[in-house]
Amino acid sequence: MIDYADVVYGLAWGDEGKGKISNAIANRYDYVCRWNGGPNAGHTVWIKDKKYKTHIIPCGIFQGIPSIIGPGCVLNVKKFQEEISYLEKNDFDVSLIKVSPNAHIITDEHIERDNKELKKKLGTTGQGIAPCYADKMLRCGIRAKDVIDSQFLWDGTLSGKVLCEGAQSVWLDIDHGNYPYVTSSTTLPYGACSLGIPPKYIGRSIGVAKIYDTKSGVDPLFPESLWEDENLNRIIELGQEYGSTTGRKRLVNWLNLDMLIKSIQLSGCDYLVINKLDVLETIGIFKVYYRGMLHTLKSLFDMMDFIRRTLSFLHIKVIFSGNREGRDIGEHFEYGW
Ligand code: IMP
Repeated sequence: MIDYADVVYGLAWGDEGKGKISNAIANRYDYVCRWNGGPNAGHTVWIKDKKYKTHIIPCGIFQGIPSIIGPGCVLNVKKFQEEISYLEKNDFDVSLIKVSPNAHIITDEHIERDNKELKKKLGTTGQGIAPCYADKMLRCGIRAKDVIDSQFLWDGTLSGKVLCEGAQSVWLDIDHGNYPYVTSSTTLPYGACSLGIPPKYIGRSIGVAKIYDTKSGVDPLFPESLWEDENLNRIIELGQEYGSTTGRKRLVNWLNLDMLIKSIQLSGCDYLVINKLDVLETIGIFKVYYRGMLHTLKSLFDMMDFIRRTLSFLHIKVIFSGNREGRDIGEHFEYGW
């Protein structure tokens, strides 16, 4: 029996720090599950000054929580095995990792097709994501149950408190993003129901954003001219805005509050975590788009105040975070979580 299922997901174009939040609160849950995507994602976590990365395995693994890869995910078997070896080498308990038998398998041919037909045109990660989901929909895909070692196959049922960890983000959603510059799965929190969680059990909706926007890959909403802005380039370097899967430089822009308001309304978020305050604080420039205009604020405090006041009509809890470990996250959530 499920008590409740909370959902962590991105409100922008990915790379907001979902992994950090998931890791910071994972120990309050019985399971941490991924419901979408595959090796296109990259979740970075800092524990005691050491950086860890996963692409498909949920961040519950860093806290010793059973970590489930759901039926809506796509899996590259070789990369999955490499990730398991990496976690094992770093003393994490890999027996907690399970894959739904219905997750789909990315083949070499999917990767080839993605790189040949989509990577350049749409800026995909080249991981074979779209061709794999296409074969799934054509009902000619290969599933995990036919390929994966049985010790990693999930034959249980979710129960107790569940944390659902999203990959990619609202503006990369197949139905609501800027198509075709999107990914091939449902990134909005309702996608978590594909884990076999009835909607009535969905509890807290925790949306994650950054205090500036970034885009990895192609999207006309992020014009090439942004590469020429000296301050935005400083943010790339200070914020280390390089793709954790592709190594590509991410295009940076000032936070677009109009888009953030839309994604909060679309996803129904209760908690908004805004990451990477430390980056803007170091640069000392505070700008934000609102109602189509770029506003300049005097200090980080003024920018936080501006964001809080502008979003107050949404009645959500706004949490600002300025360190990579997410030390300041847990204390903001209500007692009795
Ligand atoms: P695909 O998911 O590899 O097909 O890529 C489609 C689009 O989503 C491209 O613009 C990618 O850069 C973007 N994308 C996919 N996964 C991520 C992610 O984890 N973070 C940021 N962007 C992503």
